[in-house]
Amino acid sequence: MTDRVLLDDWHPLARSQDLKPGTLLRSRLMDTDLVLWRGENTAVIAAWEDRCPHRSVRLSGGKVVENTLVCSYHGLAYDPQGHCVNIPAHPNYVPPKQACVKSFKVQERYGVIFVSLGNPPQDVTPFPEWDDPTFRTYLSGAHFCRCSGLRAIENFLDVAHLPFVHAGILGEPDQAVIEDYEVSTSENGIYLHDIRVWQPDPDGTGQAGIASYEYWALRPLTASLRKETVDGNYMVLLYCVTPIGEEECLSWMWGALNYAHDIPEAEMVAFQDKVILQDVANLESHNPKRLPLDLQAEFHLPSDRASLAYRQWLKQLGLKYGAIE
Ligand code: FES
Ligand code: FE
Repeated sequence: MTDRVLLDDWHPLARSQDLKPGTLLRSRLMDTDLVLWRGENTAVIAAWEDRCPHRSVRLSGGKVVENTLVCSYHGLAYDPQGHCVNIPAHPNYVPPKQACVKSFKVQERYGVIFVSLGNPPQDVTPFPEWDDPTFRTYLSGAHFCRCSGLRAIENFLDVAHLPFVHAGILGEPDQAVIEDYEVSTSENGIYLHDIRVWQPDPDGTGQAGIASYEYWALRPLTASLRKETVDGNYMVLLYCVTPIGEEECLSWMWGALNYAHDIPEAEMVAFQDKVILQDVANLESHNPKRLPLDLQAEFHLPSDRASLAYRQWLKQLGLKYGAIE
């Protein structure tokens, strides 16, 4: 299915550290098999269709030689732009125009490789806290889940599940009331504010109380939240979901806190991993796995106003991939 909005967006695909100089990785985005590779010169990085244009075998079966990718079948070498630069069987032969691999835009941000299958009019979502030394940062993911990425983002925006799915951590079932909160939609996405949720330990002091949140849906598959704690301390989470297929996704969570510098990174990541994995059972049990954009398809409660705004916004954007119209 073609979906211009998602084709023209950036999607995280692999951790930068997992693509070492002179190596390649197989990947998949919106049902397209990809090969990511890095030259021996680390600045050379490419995201290509995983198909040699000569006889259509997987290029990920080949290897990186200096700053080219060499196909395993007949040894044709392709430069970082995807042009064939060597044909071992015919050293003096000028490669034909078709001897060019389909390549995609790629960039590295926040420790991750982002790829776009189209022409993104916007940059990767800004996350200024990531490079701010007053924040301690961490990355959790990627976590695989068998559901539409849109379901995963909607779940992130859904505060009413916190007391049940994340009981004892982000809420308690006997404190499940969700007060009205504000939602506004603009050309920049959705903004939720004045969200108050009772939590057993909202600020890490061991005292139960009300946590105060703001949420943003910035792109169809990118959302973030800001949680205030005490004395100007706050935490920002950036959540991106990669659509591998219409019913399969990877989720990534970047965290930044201007406090808790003493907590080991492994501990922060383990906590975040645990919370994300608690969501998987419900996400994978959705039937249908795609997100219905017809508002009559499921019923809604006042606490679902974020989901409603999200579905309406996706419909307005003309989003199709992973959705049911
Ligand atoms: Fe790749 Fe022939 S199929 S070199
Ligand atoms: Fe959750």
